[in-house]
Amino acid sequence: MRIPKTLAPLLEDGLIDHVIQPLRSGKEADLFVVATAEGVRCAKVYKEARQRGFRQAGLYEEGRTVRDSRRTRAMAKRSRFGRHEREEIWQNAEVDALFRLADAGARVPKPYLCIDGVLLMELIVDAAGNPAPRLSDLTLTATEAVAIHAALMRDVARMLCAGIVHGDLSEYNVLLDTHGPVIIDLPQHLDAAANNNAAAFFVRDIDHLAAYLGRFAPALATTDYGREMWALHQARDLKPDTPLTGIYQPDATPPDIAQVLREIDAVRREEEHRQARLAARAEEGRAD
Ligand SMILES: Nc1ncnc2c1ncn2[C@@H]1O[C@H](COP(=O)(O)OP(=O)(O)O)[C@@H](O)[C@H]1O
Ligand SMILES: [Mg+2]
Repeated sequence: MRIPKTLAPLLEDGLIDHVIQPLRSGKEADLFVVATAEGVRCAKVYKEARQRGFRQAGLYEEGRTVRDSRRTRAMAKRSRFGRHEREEIWQNAEVDALFRLADAGARVPKPYLCIDGVLLMELIVDAAGNPAPRLSDLTLTATEAVAIHAALMRDVARMLCAGIVHGDLSEYNVLLDTHGPVIIDLPQHLDAAANNNAAAFFVRDIDHLAAYLGRFAPALATTDYGREMWALHQARDLKPDTPLTGIYQPDATPPDIAQVLREIDAVRREEEHRQARLAARAEEGRAD
């Protein structure tokens, strides 16, 4: 097994005892099952930006707070120092989100630490103790799909209440353990309040899950939990336990037709008066 150089410092420092097995080589990271003094963990080793599939980083990063202005300037200039800083921020973004989401009660892997480009987190396992399957690995019954969807909508509401939009939610980034779905892979998450792209990414995430799970339970495919939740969130009415329907009504209050007609009438009368005044003035001009 080829152990990446990045794991060496953690092995030397004893944060990891040994590598048990490679888990998966993803788009943006290599994952390993590792043994630590506290038990088995999942180690996510980030690839450098050059090797990573380049997600439109700017769209995701907007509104992320970087407190230190020297760092902000270096990032903006994309100097070598800036690139290094951007890498660190990208990696820390995932561990930060995992801590915030675990606090908010969403089902995510429990984070332990993120150091030197490696995230150590809880290994999500199936009933047999093996690494848990992704949603994309499973054939589901309609009942299972509906239950998984409901659990995901609850967790996504918790995430949004905590100010976090996943940004890449799909059947590949949801694992299934014996208690239900667990959401993973968050380095690209968006800040719900500060990022102007958050609404679009949020709705895309939710529509994607509805379309995928809708293959097993067709009724899910036509739901609109994304727009419903975002509208509640905008109105500051979304709480983790707010009842949801999956139906989005852009504006539930019917327009007051009589009021609209009164306004049109008032504008028409004002215009008539104006025309009359103009005509009168023109008449005076001719008389002079
Ligand atoms: N905490 C974990 N427990 C079990 N498996 C995991 C865990 N984190 C990731 N994986 C596995 O590794 C794969 C890639 O991880 P992910 O965080 O999605 O990285 P990438 O950005 O490369 O997609 C996942 O699809 C999943 O199968
Ligand atoms: Mg992934």
